[in-house]
Amino acid sequence: MTGSPVASRSVRHFLRDDDLSPDEQSAVLDLALELKAEPFSARPLEGPRSVAVIFDKTSTRTRFSFDAGIAQLGGNPIVVESGSTQMGKGETLEDTAKVMSRYVEAIVWRTYSQDGLVELAGHSDVPVVNALSDEFHPCQILADLLTIRENFGRTAGLRAVYLGDGANNMGHSYLLGFATAGIHIIIAAPDGYQPSGQVVADAERIAEATGGSVGITTDVASAVEGADVLITDTWVSMGMEDSAADRLRDLAGYRLGQEAVDRASDDVIVLHCLPAYRGKEISAEVIDGPRSRVFDEAENRLHAQKALLVWLLERA
Ligand code: CP
Ligand code: NVA
Repeated sequence: MTGSPVASRSVRHFLRDDDLSPDEQSAVLDLALELKAEPFSARPLEGPRSVAVIFDKTSTRTRFSFDAGIAQLGGNPIVVESGSTQMGKGETLEDTAKVMSRYVEAIVWRTYSQDGLVELAGHSDVPVVNALSDEFHPCQILADLLTIRENFGRTAGLRAVYLGDGANNMGHSYLLGFATAGIHIIIAAPDGYQPSGQVVADAERIAEATGGSVGITTDVASAVEGADVLITDTWVSMGMEDSAADRLRDLAGYRLGQEAVDRASDDVIVLHCLPAYRGKEISAEVIDGPRSRVFDEAENRLHAQKALLVWLLERA
C-alpha cells in the first residue's frame, strides 16, 4: 500500500512523502514560493490558534523553522520536548491525541517510530505532521524540492543522486518524495545500507505514473555521471550512535567529494539536509563550494512547512 494507513478519517496527515499526490505536492510547492515572496500573506492561525511541535530527538532547523513559521502564519507555536510531557512517562498515544486535538490545530512530532506517528494520527482530530522519524523525513524533502525548483524551474525529468546511507529516513524520503515529483532518483549505497524493498517498490509504482524512475546501485562513479542534483546525509543518524564506528568504515567510499561534482552536470547543485559532518559524508570543498545550495535548502524548510500547514488547514 502507498501512503500512510490512516486515510479513513477525513482529516489529512503528512506522515510520509507519498501522503501527498503529485498534484498536491506541486500545489504545496507553488504555495511555498508564494509565501517565500510574501511571508505574511497567509494567516490561517490568526487568533492566535496553536500548533504543537513535539521533539523526542534533538533539532535545530525543524525546531526554529516550525516555531518561526507558525508565528508568521499568525499562530502560537507550542514547542516542547516530549520528556517534559506525560508522553515521556508512558501516557498512551491515543489519550495524548484525543487531548491535544482539543487544544491545537495541528500536531508536529519528531520521533523514532513511524508506527507511533501512524497511531497518534489514527486518534487525532487535527492534522499530524512527521517532523522526522527513523523511516522518513518528508518535510525536508519539500524544502529540497523547493530548492530544486528555484534552481532549475522544474523538478520532473531531473537526475538526482543520493550517496551514502540509503536505508535511513532521508534515503527513504528521497525515494518517495522525488518519485512523486517525477525525478529520476538514484540511491548509491553499499550492501547493508540499501533502502527498504517496500519503499523502493512504492517509489517505483509512483514513478511509473509521474515519469520519474528509481535506481539502486553500489557504484558511485556511474551513478553521479551527469547528475543534476547530488545529495548526501550524515552516516550516523540520530539513534544510531552505537554503530557509528562500523558506519564510518562501511560508508567511507560514498563520500560526496569534488570528484563526484566533476562527473556531474555543469549545472549540478549539491544538497544536504544538515547537520553536516565535513570530511565524513561530504568534503568541506563541496559543501562550502560554488555548487552547494545547503543554506537555501535550510531556509526553504520555513517556506515549505508554512505552505504545508496552510494546505493541511485550509485546502486539503
Ligand atoms: N535537517 C533537519 O531536520 O535538521 P534538524 O535536525 O536540525 O532539525
Ligand atoms: N538522517 C538524519 C537526518 C537529520 C536531519 C538523522 O536522522 O539524524
